[in-house]
Order: sequence, then structure tokens, then C-alpha cells
Amino acid sequence: MNIGNVKIEFPVFLAPMAGYTDHAFRILCKEQGAGVVYTEFVSSEGIIRGSEKTQNYLTFDDIERPIGIQIFGHNPKSMAEAAKYIEENYKPDIIDLNFGCPVKKVTKKGAGSSLLRNLPLMAEIARNVIKSVNTPVTAKIRSGWNNSEILATKAAKILEAEGVAALTIHPRTASSRYNQPANWNIIADVKSKVKIPVIGNGDIKTPEDAGKMFKETGCDAVMIGRGALGNPLIFRNTIDYLKGGKLIPTISPISKINFCLHHISLESKMREDVTVNKLMKKYYRWYFRELPNASEIRTKLVKSTNLNETIKILESFKTYLFN
Ligand SMILES: Cc1cc2nc3c(=O)[nH]c(=O)nc-3n(C[C@H](O)[C@H](O)[C@H](O)COP(=O)(O)O)c2cc1C
Repeated sequence: MNIGNVKIEFPVFLAPMAGYTDHAFRILCKEQGAGVVYTEFVSSEGIIRGSEKTQNYLTFDDIERPIGIQIFGHNPKSMAEAAKYIEENYKPDIIDLNFGCPVKKVTKKGAGSSLLRNLPLMAEIARNVIKSVNTPVTAKIRSGWNNSEILATKAAKILEAEGVAALTIHPRTASSRYNQPANWNIIADVKSKVKIPVIGNGDIKTPEDAGKMFKETGCDAVMIGRGALGNPLIFRNTIDYLKGGKLIPTISPISKINFCLHHISLESKMREDVTVNKLMKKYYRWYFRELPNASEIRTKLVKSTNLNETIKILESFKTYLFN
């Protein structure tokens, strides 16, 4: 498939996830075949201010391509300025607009999913950004604000008319956050009403789920978020399954530990050991939630105060599993 002029090899994408889809995690997923990876959402105002923290979110390596940088904001001028800055300084393959974040800090300023309640402003943002760059601009939306305001298809048609190159649909309302299952019928409805590529997202935990989403919605690509945490192999297994290969729904405990160790080594190339040791802690519940003795190893890892000790704990857990 193509998004604008960008050719995409595998239609299985990594979702943007704030606090998780950093440089190292994106590389980990890319190595397993993820077709497109995204940065987490980055504030357009922060980009314009040139804040150092914000710049760190925007940095990527060529091996991550094709990559989308996702931005959020409520001001069409700032969004366009931020997009232009990103294009000139980082040259990503895709610029993605966040119209889906349900977090209050973001919606109370009129950004993220609250733009579903102000479609003229959403359209104006898309129009301004598209005018300011040559990079394909995509958008990610939720199904609506709440169950009585389901707006995905209406928003999709408006965004298509503005020139958005593809759309990701996460079919939950902003107010339901994660409390209800994703309603894939909304992806199917959007797909039947627009011509641009539609990327389906929500509740893909296994290769079989991805196959079902393609079949039930007709979407052009699928996007995996939480299902990739602790399980980057889901990309390889899904691609193989979609090509007609064997269904491998799970990842072995030893593989999980090996991925975790590799993840640490990728993070270590980019940060100080002490930072890596701290930031890895949030990933352990994803790597080790279903393993034998999971809570024991997690407790040890979370308590570990240095990276060498962390690596030793992981290696000894591997030995334990082998015996
Ligand atoms: C911890 C976390 C952070 C997220 N951050 C973002 C974000 O920065 N931008 C965005 O568009 N969606 C974000 N999302 C939503 C995901 O991209 C995705 O739409 C959602 O998790 C549903 O997909 P899944 O069921 O495969 O996880 C986030 C989700 C999680 C769990």
C-alpha cells in the first residue's frame, strides 16, 4: 500500500503510545517488520518554542523509516508552523495529526479528541498543515466524543476533502477511554465512505485478531498498540500469518526475556545506564505479565537500582526457565 508517495511494505503498523514508543522501542518493532512506526504525540506549541525535551521526541534513525511524527494542538497556525519545522529539520515520511487523545489536559485546551466536537476547526487545522508541507499528512481519530456523538465517518469525509492522505480509526469514544471494546463496525463504515487508505486500530492482541479486522472492516492496514508492548514479535507473526503462514498467537517466555534484554541494549545506545534502568521499569509488566513467577521477577526488576543488576536478574530468570 501507499500513503501519499510513501510505499509501505507491510500493512501492520505500530501505534503511537506516549511514554512507550520511543526511539529504541520503535527500532525493536521495526526489526520485527512493523510497516510504519510513529512517535508519540508531540505538542505543536512545544515544537515552536524549541523545547529540548520536545526535540528529543522528534529524533529518529533512518532504519525506522517509514516513520510518522505525530503532533497535537488546537491552533491551526501553530500546527502548520510545527509541521513545517518538522519537515525542514527531521524529514519524516508522514506527519500525523492527533485528533484522538482523550486526556483532559489535552482536550480542555481544545486539542486531541475534543476537535471531534469542532469539525470546522479540525478541518482548518488539516488544511493549514497540508498547505505548509509536502510530506503526506495523515490523521488519527476516535469514533466520537461519546455514544450520542459518533462522528468518525463525518470527520473522515471532511478530512479526506481537505487532502489528508490516510486515516487511522481507533473506534472508541473519547469519554469511554478504554472501558469498552473497540467497535470495529465504525472502521468498516468509514472505509466504505472514503477513498483514502484507512488504518484500523483497537484491540489487536494476536495475528488472528489482525486477520479478523482486515476481513470484517476491509481496512487497508492495521495498527497495533498495547499488543506490541512486551511482544514486538507480534509484527513478524502477524505478517507471516497474513501471508498464509502458521498462526503463532503467543511468544515464548525465553523469547520475552531475550526481547527485553535486546530492548535494554537498544536503549543503552541512546541513554545513560541509570536512565535506562529507570525507564525500563514501566515495560516489565508488559514483558512479564503471563510468565511463571512473573510477580517475583517483576518485583526484583522494579527494585533493581542499577542496570548490571537488572541484566543479571533477567539472565538468571532465563536459566531458571531452562531448568
Ligand atoms: C500508554 C498509551 C499511550 C498512548 N499514546 C498515544 C499517543 O501519543 N497518540 C495517539 O494517537 N494515541 C495514543 N494512544 C492510543 C493508541 O495509539 C491506540 O489508539 C490505542 O491504544 C488502541 O490500540 P490498541 O488496542 O492496539 O492498544 C496511547 C495508548 C496507550 C495505551
